[in-house]
Amino acid sequence: MPAINEVTNLEVNSNIAVLTLNSPPVNALSAKVREGLHVGVKQTTEDDNVKAVVLICEGRTFIAGADITEFGQAPKGPSLFEVLDMIENSSKPIISAIHGTALGGGLEVALTCHYRIAIPSAKCGLPEVKLGLLPGAGGTQRLPRVVGAQKALQMVTSGEHVPAKECLEMGLIDEMANEDSLLEDAIKFASTIVKENRPLVKVKENEENIKADKGNHALFADFRKSIARRTRGFLAPEYNIQCIEAAVNKPFEEGIKVERELFTKLVTGSQSAAQRYVFFAERLVNKIPDIPSETELIEVNSVGVIGAGTMGGGISMNFANVGIPVTIIEQNQERLDRGLAIIKKNYENTANKGRISMEDVETRMALITGELSLDTLNSQDLIIEAVFENMALKKEIFRKLDGISKAGTILASNTSALNVNEIAAETKRPEDVIGLHFFSPANVMKLLEIVRGEKTSKSIVASSMAIAKKIGKIAAVVGVCPGFVGNRILGQRQREANKLILEGALPWDIDDALFNFGFPMGPFAMSDLAGLDIGWNKETSKGETLRDILCESGRLGQKSGKGFYLYDENRNKSPDPEVEAIIRKFAEAKQIRLRDISKEEILERCLYPMINEGFKILEEGMAIRASDIDIVWINGYGWPAYEGGPMFYGSLVGFDKILDWLKKMEQELGSEFKPSSYLEKVVNENINIFV
Ligand code: 3HC
Ligand code: NAI
Repeated sequence: MPAINEVTNLEVNSNIAVLTLNSPPVNALSAKVREGLHVGVKQTTEDDNVKAVVLICEGRTFIAGADITEFGQAPKGPSLFEVLDMIENSSKPIISAIHGTALGGGLEVALTCHYRIAIPSAKCGLPEVKLGLLPGAGGTQRLPRVVGAQKALQMVTSGEHVPAKECLEMGLIDEMANEDSLLEDAIKFASTIVKENRPLVKVKENEENIKADKGNHALFADFRKSIARRTRGFLAPEYNIQCIEAAVNKPFEEGIKVERELFTKLVTGSQSAAQRYVFFAERLVNKIPDIPSETELIEVNSVGVIGAGTMGGGISMNFANVGIPVTIIEQNQERLDRGLAIIKKNYENTANKGRISMEDVETRMALITGELSLDTLNSQDLIIEAVFENMALKKEIFRKLDGISKAGTILASNTSALNVNEIAAETKRPEDVIGLHFFSPANVMKLLEIVRGEKTSKSIVASSMAIAKKIGKIAAVVGVCPGFVGNRILGQRQREANKLILEGALPWDIDDALFNFGFPMGPFAMSDLAGLDIGWNKETSKGETLRDILCESGRLGQKSGKGFYLYDENRNKSPDPEVEAIIRKFAEAKQIRLRDISKEEILERCLYPMINEGFKILEEGMAIRASDIDIVWINGYGWPAYEGGPMFYGSLVGFDKILDWLKKMEQELGSEFKPSSYLEKVVNENINIFV
């Protein structure tokens, strides 16, 4: 095949040119790919033999977007705009032939082609919003001209990958190819276009699909309202909306100007920098340096779960959702029935919201079997223990499992704090034991901490990573230490939040500061949600702590209508002067002088100790890399992705500044602020912790 450059080939047969890109892994629009496209299209326009051009990709996918690694670097070669102009203004019809995913700049390329054909498994989308961006090469202006404003708004603000069938229905693709014969079908389609002398369709000239919405402000106002909660704090969704609004209300060229201006703002801003960092961090977290990719995996075709409580139920749903049968063990029939009923109710609720069908509920429930004896766990590939957090009980269960489960079964504990090495030592196969720390609600939360014990084998770790992926979790490998990575860092924030109350900040001051930073809720709203009486005992309570006093006065949290906050009948919270009075009285009794505390100080006190703990975790080797800590906090605790996670945020604040602050606090408030020696090293030796 005649090569244009290392990643592009051009071949002409019977008047149809086939321009093929082959730039693994995802044919991203790097300088080389842009050059190949530019030269290739130019050659086809100059070649009189060519009557039409098929643009197709080798490998796993059509163009998956701009090359994200190039953002922030000096531009090289032809720009994407030059390439798109060349395609759109070609005198010969250009047909993009899509498999895998046509995403971002990839879909923008396809939208400047005159026709699009795809195979049924292909998907199209503009996922820039997930990188804190907007489609910057005409996507926001061309997409609504094909699919209308409403659908375009949905696509650009969600970043969803839309299946080919739906794309066909909404006109985003013109023709469906057979799954196994894309090239052949694309060439046939191109020949038909030539034979029938079909027009050179330029999407930018199509006003038909947007004209009805010109001046329709309500459409955009309603849409903004509908996504407000989900997108709070993020800049990109709003900028994407403004672009679609421009597409509908302004001429194409003016709309493009709006798009370029807003794209530039986003791509040079801190939110997108953080979100692009998170994109790569999410991929890096899957890489375990000492575990080769060819490590033998245990295939998980059946699962056992012990305990049908809060966690066991949610954990089981993950597997039933992907068609893997689960056996759940409980200690008695009543608890088993209750656990299974809650699972069923959860599925029914999802079905009522239209997210799954009633048949799905039946199919999934049919995959879950309840049993009362551990002896039934003799054939499963993976067993996850989720009984009470009690070491003696967990040890007993693992001893028994050792005698019951088949050789090679992955034996996992969902413990949130207990020592996995100690649990593993109860068995004669500690190499098969691992911690799989799910987060509540386990069927919803994305994060899974994979707790690698001292003796856990590489195959068990790799197999756990693989099964996590299968059930749609983002897994981070962590070491055995109290609280692992996530809760260990949470402990720092919780301690400081509690201390701040007795220095003068009110619970809602602290919650507001963290909520405005971007967390879904602050620690006190969270405590009210969970219940203040978890771990509190009426009989032994001595009114010694603020929590004792709140619980003793019936303030148990949301469930009793009041806790740190007061709740109305719809569970809307408001600050309660009574709580303020309780705090003041408590402080007086303890002879504590309360002072005014600024939002800035609240954030420093809550966040900087978390970053310090992150460094201690790295120093002890309990996380593989700094970005894994960020992934844990974004996916398990709601750290806003646009702030990049605690370690990334720390780098923006400046590790030197944080170190100085910690030293000062250590002197003023004590050893809890002692800086990690690794943080000192990073600052003193100017080490980049993100490589
Ligand atoms: N640029 C550079 N590298 C990319 C990339 C991109 N756009 N997309 C993926 N990669 C890299 C990944 O980092 C990964 O590298 P690694 O193997 O070294 O870790 C490799 O390609 C494979 O990626 P995945 O592991 O994610 O592979 P999957 O098969 O699971 O997923 C995918 C493939 C759906 C294409 C997914 O990679 C993806 O969603 N990519 C990003 C798509 C995107 O956001 N496109 C828009 C870019 S911005 C843009 O186009 C701006 C324009 O409007 C001007
Ligand atoms: P839970 O109290 O809701 O459920 C535990 C269940 O285990 C109960 O239904 C109980 O009957 C059952 N059980 C006890 N002994 C048993 C036995 N011998 N055989 C079979 N079943 C038995 O507790 P929850 O919250 O589900 O916690 C379970 C585990 O998950 C604990 O180790 C906890 O630390 C951990 N965890 C809890 C999280 C949470 O938010 N609740 C989050 C992450 C981990």
